[in-house]
Amino acid sequence: MKEQNFKAKLATLAQTVDKALQDWLPLNDEGRSANLNEACRYSVLAGGKRIRAVLPLLLAEMYQKPVKPVLRMGCAIELIHAYSLIHDDLPAMDNDDFRRGRPTNHKVFGEAMAILAGDNLLTLAFAWLAGLNEFDVSEAKVIEIIKKVASAAGGEGMIGGQVLDLAAENSNIDVAALENIHRLKTGALIQVPVACAALICDAPEKDFDKLSEFAFKLGLLFQIVDDILDVEGSLEELGKMPGRDASLGKSTYPGLLGLDSAVKMASEIHSAAISALNGLSVDYSLLAEMADFIYSRKN
Ligand code: IPE
Ligand code: IPE
Ligand code: MG
Ligand code: MG
Ligand code: MG
Repeated sequence: MKEQNFKAKLATLAQTVDKALQDWLPLNDEGRSANLNEACRYSVLAGGKRIRAVLPLLLAEMYQKPVKPVLRMGCAIELIHAYSLIHDDLPAMDNDDFRRGRPTNHKVFGEAMAILAGDNLLTLAFAWLAGLNEFDVSEAKVIEIIKKVASAAGGEGMIGGQVLDLAAENSNIDVAALENIHRLKTGALIQVPVACAALICDAPEKDFDKLSEFAFKLGLLFQIVDDILDVEGSLEELGKMPGRDASLGKSTYPGLLGLDSAVKMASEIHSAAISALNGLSVDYSLLAEMADFIYSRKN
């Protein structure tokens, strides 16, 4: 597929995700939680590339399986991702004022509501996952999915990575330690929707390791590019303030290796991600194009 065609396809899939989130998130009614629901919708429905939900949609297409169950699972991961961003932006963490082209959640709703909105999105995500049997996912698979997502989101995954990220501010760490931070804080929530989609789509056993290795590399690539864009991007392009990593003394690939070497590293990992797919039982060109997109993204 031509690059432009793939971008158009991604835009259509992201719209499918947006529409589902619109429909499924609790509304800003007049009830007791009106403010909470408004705060949650404000951050979740502010756009975003939706790659954590689009990846499962690509797998459904590759394995010719129904969209609905993977869409519901991918949207649950997007809720966890949105919560991680709301908390990541808090003054106690990265203290950021802009996200997805708008003021951060705590700037609009206050810190207490931003914390609670994040807590609520995490809880709601697990409610959606636990209800996947209503979307024709077997109960055995639902339990497996909940275990995988809990592990990816918690202390041995994203949260563990965030703890290490904060601990590594203004300190010298080596590339292996940095790779570990990126694998945990960002890679885990990119790997898990791919693993869960493989499970839901009944991918053959021999594809699981290839998909997992691909998603691992993709997650790492994603965060290296995020670090590079923090140096090279603008507020208009990124929807978030650039230059924050340097101000906060974050450990990043450009910071550790220099910009040129970080770009080279991204290029190598991009190639390695695609190589990991060699021998998959189905055509994997959609995933290869996703890797190209993440490698060359500007926001
Ligand atoms: C930003 O994630 C935070 C990181 C893990 C690097 P994304 O770049 O996927 O953010 P959205 O969802 O598109 O806003
Ligand atoms: C964020 O990493 C990872 C998570 C939110 C889990 P960053 O702190 O680099 O993300 P941005 O740059 O604020 O989006
Ligand atoms: Mg951070
Ligand atoms: Mg941040
Ligand atoms: Mg960043």
